[in-house]
Amino acid sequence: MKTILMSYYDIDDFLKRSIINLQNKEWNNCYWGDTPFIKNCVCCFEGDKLVSYLSIVKKSIIYKKEEYVVAGLSEVITDIDYRCKGIGANTIKVAFDYIKKDNCDFSTFTCSKGLSNFYTKAGWKTADNLSIIGGTFSKPMNSNEMNLQTMIALFSDKAKTHSKDFENGELFLDIGEGKIW
Ligand SMILES: CC(C)(COP(=O)(O)OP(=O)(O)OC[C@H]1O[C@@H](n2cnc3c(N)ncnc32)[C@H](O)[C@@H]1OP(=O)(O)O)[C@@H](O)C(=O)NCCC(=O)NCCS
Repeated sequence: MKTILMSYYDIDDFLKRSIINLQNKEWNNCYWGDTPFIKNCVCCFEGDKLVSYLSIVKKSIIYKKEEYVVAGLSEVITDIDYRCKGIGANTIKVAFDYIKKDNCDFSTFTCSKGLSNFYTKAGWKTADNLSIIGGTFSKPMNSNEMNLQTMIALFSDKAKTHSKDFENGELFLDIGEGKIW
């Protein structure tokens, strides 16, 4: 097995097809395609076969009157035939270690409630009273209303100084219709 962190812009056609095939086993038409928010991805291969994948999303936001650079995870998946072998845990750990060093103020994203332990082992914490708002201003998607769990990790001095702000609130990402991290 080899796990590689790579630029999203370096994905060639073969890898793109592998990502779409992997995602289609779990979700319908999930592939984000060209989006300014996906900067990097983590791929785990057995030989030439893609067995685990995630994308790292990143953008600037204003939250409680402060500007932050925030990074999250999207499209986290392990091939169904390769699950429960620690591959996904390794994929998200590579992403966490990268985000921590990538000059982000903090990292946040949502997951189903049953998966929070999976992400806390890699370094994120649960933020039960912080809602992530995906979608757009006119068509918002509220993680709380979707019964999703918010995960968070604060990295910069600025984010840590304002840590109380992240204990509760609504963090609007403005990432496009139908999209949420
Ligand atoms: C979630 C997912 C990526 C985990 O991948 P994986 O390679 O099987 O994960 P690992 O083998 O590294 O599991 C690590 C730990 O997480 C736990 N875990 C894995 N999947 C889980 C799930 N669906 N629910 C609850 N716990 C889970 C494992 O039991 C394991 O715990 P342990 O360390 O106590 O044994 C995989 O199940 C998947 O692709 N699911 C479908 C897509 C999905 O739900 N993605 C997440 C979107 S937020």
